[in-house]
Amino acid sequence: MTPETTLVQWLREARRVLVFCGAGISAESGIPTFRGAGGLWEGHRIEDVATPEGFARDPVLVWQFDAARQHALPTVSPNPAHEMLAAMERHYPAFLLVTQNVDDLHERAGSRDAIHLHGSLDEVRCTLCGRQRPLGSPPSLADVRRGVLPHCACGGLERPGVVWFGEMLNPTHLRSIEKFIETGWNDGPAFLVLVIGTSGVVGGDYGIHSLPAALGARVVEINPEETLLSSEVDLAVRAPAGALLGRVWPEVGSAEHPAAR
Ligand code: OAD
Repeated sequence: MTPETTLVQWLREARRVLVFCGAGISAESGIPTFRGAGGLWEGHRIEDVATPEGFARDPVLVWQFDAARQHALPTVSPNPAHEMLAAMERHYPAFLLVTQNVDDLHERAGSRDAIHLHGSLDEVRCTLCGRQRPLGSPPSLADVRRGVLPHCACGGLERPGVVWFGEMLNPTHLRSIEKFIETGWNDGPAFLVLVIGTSGVVGGDYGIHSLPAALGARVVEINPEETLLSSEVDLAVRAPAGALLGRVWPEVGSAEHPAAR
């Protein structure tokens, strides 16, 4: 059996599916990943544009970085990987999508309950009163360059709604993930974890793949490259996620899930 045919079989046998995504899933939509040649971190210093200290030092630089990403969103579209994950959410009796991505491509593909572990480019939060709101339209790049930044009704400076290095993850998100994993304690190999398009440099320690593995879940990596997590998975499918899922899922998802009969 090839890795791809094994994946098809495991997707058919699964009842509980947990997906953990990174930037690679949006690569085929034209959004650059963070690491590697041409990645976002090649042209930007993390400490300048993705830390609380960087924002305190130079909020204009941070807003320039994120406003550029916000303006790019309407120019890209979900790819088959986002679409197939939305279809999986409808198919499986128990399904949770956890993404490290701050783009909105999962929602635009139809996912309803994706957990955005690293926040979202669609939101802003007041640095004074803490009020969170949907961004609506992003600030113009010309305004941001001139130092005209989004402000809250209370007068406080707003910050992008993304999680920066050194910040805590949302505890409500962590509890939802824990609960989903714990509930699968008895599912054995019918518990399937798909780790898609992440290097594992940041999310590798979150436990999202390793806790289910300790319960007996099957863990699959979908990534054209080997990663820090590759040695911890049961199956590695070395392919771009959009092309692979666009091929594989229609073979599985056309059938009604046995648990629904
Ligand atoms: P990385 O840039 O670290 O890794 C992207 C991964 O996607 C790599 O392993 C690539 O091989 C893989 N990849 C590329 N094209 C792919 C494709 N078509 N299909 C599948 N995989 C593909 O991005 P993340 O792991 O998401 O955090 O990075 C995690 C976090 O680090 C980000 O959320 C961000 C970053 O710093 C914050 O900003 C807090």
